[in-house]
Amino acid sequence: MQLLDISWFTDSMREGRPVAVETRHHIQDISPTLPEGTTPTPVAAVSQYACQRLTTIENNNKVFTDAFEVLAESYEFSENEGACLAFRRAASVLKSLPRAVRHLGAVRVLPCLGEHAKKVMEEVLECGCSFEVVKICSDEKYQTLKLFTSVFGVGTKTAEKWYCKGLRSFREIIAEPCIRLNRMQQSGFLHHGDISRAVSRAEARALGSIIDEAARGITPDAMLTLTGGFRRGKEFGHDVDFLLTTAELGKENGLLINVIDRLRQQGILLYSSDLQPASSSTFDVNELPCRRRTFSVMDRFPKCFLILRLDGSRVEEGGSGLQRGEEEEEEGDGTGRGWRAVRVDLVSPPKDRYAFALLGWTGSRQFLRDMRTFARRERHMLLDNHGLYDKTKEEFLAAQTEKDIFAHLGLDYIEPWHRNA
Ligand code: UTP
Ligand code: MN
Repeated sequence: MQLLDISWFTDSMREGRPVAVETRHHIQDISPTLPEGTTPTPVAAVSQYACQRLTTIENNNKVFTDAFEVLAESYEFSENEGACLAFRRAASVLKSLPRAVRHLGAVRVLPCLGEHAKKVMEEVLECGCSFEVVKICSDEKYQTLKLFTSVFGVGTKTAEKWYCKGLRSFREIIAEPCIRLNRMQQSGFLHHGDISRAVSRAEARALGSIIDEAARGITPDAMLTLTGGFRRGKEFGHDVDFLLTTAELGKENGLLINVIDRLRQQGILLYSSDLQPASSSTFDVNELPCRRRTFSVMDRFPKCFLILRLDGSRVEEGGSGLQRGEEEEEEGDGTGRGWRAVRVDLVSPPKDRYAFALLGWTGSRQFLRDMRTFARRERHMLLDNHGLYDKTKEEFLAAQTEKDIFAHLGLDYIEPWHRNA
């Protein structure tokens, strides 16, 4: 027997038959009245940790989460990390809800929603928008920092510095003689139009087969996996994230650098960050988490941020807007010239760390942030992209698959498409 929300009944009436039970049919925020003498089974409360919630790509509360994102970003610009994370956490909770919130009463029992967040929601419910958010969006400083940080290689600090110099546009930055752009920023400006356009799944697939071909040409047992938002079921992304490894441990050594060389020979490497070498394939004694307060979130696997040239002819029919007629006039943003630039992240973990790298790079960022917090606070363990350390047992816990990691943490397994926190 299952206790369900009335929406299951109305859906069934509409279909003319009892419909299959879906997540949205489960009761969210009311307690069932049970017959006398029975012990109440508590209604599954919404967890404060994203790694204990199911979050699909369908967001039923976009009006609120968009407003929260503006606030989070504005706090990020003013380096108020606490407030920034609080709004990201609040947005993440609303994203997990199977329905749109229509009145404030519905959020009473939800975790991670502070007074400030509730006030914003109240305004959105009553007036259709939050005045605070509207004000931020029209603020010159916010707009300028948003524009500057949209460039690959430009972070909050650089954007702030340029703003303080009185610069307001790309044109002014390029024309300013005392600004020296690094290699990454030069590429960022050069390909800004292309890389600020979303990448489609078909384009991600096309890049996957190009990199896969290059890797297999070096070692036949190379394995390439699409991670990031695409693995979570998103149809579009801001970049494409890949893990590259080999069936045999140790063979991944030097693979990444060779793959990048091949891409360069093919003439499709538009930019490549300096390759970060693996510090060691196993953990250094001094790196033991018991000697440090927390795990480093930086990857120590060979990793490279790239910009690749993707020809329209490599993308499946209907997958991109690049295969239009030859006679098409060249437009400033690159459409019509038959190719586009795409941001690609390539990481090469050894096979025995693969599950941890896969989990970390699949994200979402908030899902993983909460998973690490859960590990530390609830399990006395440290999790990062390289491993899981049990502080009580003082040992690393091995994992072949993502399921093993969830199991070590005593968490129900959550599929990638439910990790869109
Ligand atoms: P992305 O920033 O690419 O996000 O990082 P995404 O979810 O794929 O979103 P779109 O579609 O590109 O916009 C993917 C995951 O990789 C982790 C991030 O934390 C995120 O969970 N990551 C990224 C790392 O672990 N290390 C890095 O250096 C960069
Ligand atoms: Mn991505």
